[in-house]
Amino acid sequence: MKQLHEFEIKKMLRLADEAREKAYVPYSGFHVGACLKTGSGAYYLGCNIENASYTPTNCAERTAMFKAVYEGERDFEAIAIISDGINYVAPCGVCRQVLAEFCPPDMPVICADRDGNYEVHELRELIPMAFTKKDIDDSK
Ligand code: THU
Repeated sequence: MKQLHEFEIKKMLRLADEAREKAYVPYSGFHVGACLKTGSGAYYLGCNIENASYTPTNCAERTAMFKAVYEGERDFEAIAIISDGINYVAPCGVCRQVLAEFCPPDMPVICADRDGNYEVHELRELIPMAFTKKDIDDSK
């Protein structure tokens, strides 16, 4: 796995925690914040944004990712996620698929609990055998 300095992880978690405060969560009350770091050292922050119709809810990870992609970013180095929960928050299946579209399989995913304790996983650990653009290209 790509090595991240402890100092860098703490910084990303601090930023993710700030993003968590922006969460729009009138239904679950579960605040999530994400901090996505690009190869050039920029940080994109995201929170979860819920909806009365539930299904359109956007997770913090996807909010951060879509903001970054809109700004033209295509090179990602790490993502940190923090929530209100007592457990390490792990990206949902949909977010794992979105991360797999843009991020390298060995990218560190930092999953924290509400106190800032964390564990780091490689993206490929979270979504083994991801379906990607290559699967489509190879069949042409
Ligand atoms: N949620 C995230 O934002 N990221 C995750 O990694 C897990 C789930 C949000 C979606 C919803 O707003 C709330 O948490 C409860 O599922």
